[in-house]
This record gives sequence, C-alpha cells and structure tokens, in this order.
Amino acid sequence: MAAVTLLSTRDLCRHFGGLRAVRDVDFDLPQGEIRALIGPNGAGKTTFVSMLCGRIPASSGTITFQGQDVTHLPAHKRISLGMAYTFQITSIFGNLTVYENVALAVQHRLGRDHAALKRETLGALARVGLKARAEQVAGDLAYGHQRLLEIAMGLGQEPKLLILDEPTQGLSDGEIEEFIALIREVSANTTVLLIEHNIPVVMALADTITVLNFGRIIAEGTPAEIRANMHVQEAYLGG
Ligand SMILES: Nc1ncnc2c1ncn2[C@@H]1O[C@H](COP(=O)(O)OP(=O)(O)OP(=O)(O)O)[C@@H](O)[C@H]1O
Ligand SMILES: [Mg+2]
Repeated sequence: MAAVTLLSTRDLCRHFGGLRAVRDVDFDLPQGEIRALIGPNGAGKTTFVSMLCGRIPASSGTITFQGQDVTHLPAHKRISLGMAYTFQITSIFGNLTVYENVALAVQHRLGRDHAALKRETLGALARVGLKARAEQVAGDLAYGHQRLLEIAMGLGQEPKLLILDEPTQGLSDGEIEEFIALIREVSANTTVLLIEHNIPVVMALADTITVLNFGRIIAEGTPAEIRANMHVQEAYLGG
C-alpha cells in the first residue's frame, strides 16, 4: 500500500536579497515517517521549515499539506490544520511556569474543559520528563530543558506533523537517550520532521534522510544509503 503524502513542496524557493537560501525544492513527506533533514551550517534547513510552517513567506513555489495548498496561509491557520514546530531559538514564555506554557498550547485545542486541560498538560510534561518541574518558572530552566518544554508545547497541540529544529542542542547524553525514546513513541501517531546535527540521533531515528546543501536537496534515502553516499560525505559527513 502506498503511503499517504502528508506534506509536499514543489519548486519551493526563498531568496534573501541576492542569496538563494532555498532553491527549487521538491519534497514529499509520507504520513507516519520520521524524516531527518541534515546539511551543513547555512544549507537552508531552518529557512525551508520556516516556510513550511508559515514563519516566513516563500519567494516562489508551493506547499501542500494534507492535499490543501497552504503556501499563503498564515502560521496560526497551519497550526490549526495540525502543524506544530519548535525552533532553534527557544520561544517559550520565560516569565510563566513550565505548566502554564504547556497549558497555553493545550488550551487552543480544548477550550474551557479544565479537567481535560490539566490532565493533558501534565501528560505532555510527563512525556518529555518535565512533570516534576511543572511549577518552575520556565525562564529559569536550563537551555536543554527549555527545548524539551517547547516539544511538550508542540505535543500539547496533538499535531499531525511535528517539526523540530535542532531539538537535542544543549541536552546531556542521558537526555538525548530519553529524547530518542520520546520521538519513537510520538511517531506512532505523528509524522516527524527533524533537523538535527547529531548524526547518531539521526541514524537512530530517521526512516528517511534528506540532505540539503546550498539550498538544494543533494540526496535522499535510508540511513544506510545516506551513509554510503559519496556526495553527502564530501558535503557534510567529512569523508
Ligand atoms: N533573515 C535572513 N536574512 C538574510 N539571510 C538569511 C536570513 N535567514 C537565513 N539567511 C541565510 O540563508 C542561508 C540559510 O540559512 P539557514 O538558517 O536556513 O541555514 P541552516 O541550514 O538552518 O543552518 P544551521 O545549521 O546553521 O542552522 C544562510 O546563508 C543564512 O545566512
Ligand atoms: Mg538552522
């Protein structure tokens, strides 16, 4: 049975003045996959996913999500269609507690059902291992824990697609192990698009890897195929 395509792009481009940060990208993400997006610094990874979720507009090309053209939809509409994302730069509310941050994300979906709000908020915090820190002020958390909090905020939306931009940056080895287990569990119900520089994490999690270099896709395949790909080794994996 052919997998259903959850998200695709055609000829997607983004220029910053004369700089072509993303060029003519045709990308297809089947539902249920864990997809890793890798590539050297400045390859265009963050720019690409920023267009997917509507954080920045595309210069040209199209983005389709669940069969619907979302290229020109504002970010909040894409969130209500089922996209969630966390970015390289943390976007938590530093003066609110850990609990309140996640409750805000859950509230969008559940409205005023207080019992469900509490249950699902604590549930999302438990999944990322932050339940014991629920009453802490979010801005006081270590950077790695702030990244986990962002993931909990994403999960609180029960998204169809979860986009994570360098989620393991700042995590300890033990926390990275927990993150890998978390993403495996999340992927039972959610398609995951993961930008990640930590190659062992990529190899452990990804069904398919897409490699970006100078704004273009230069390779796509299974972890074993990507490991064996000479072009990728030259561009990125350092031979
Ligand atoms: N707002 C912006 N204005 C101008 N140039 C930008 C802007 N955002 C990104 N760029 C440039 O676009 C290119 C791609 O950047 P991008 O952040 O997408 O790379 P990346 O693959 O996410 O890199 P990293 O691995 O370092 O996060 C880079 O040359 C970057 O300097
Ligand atoms: Mg980036």
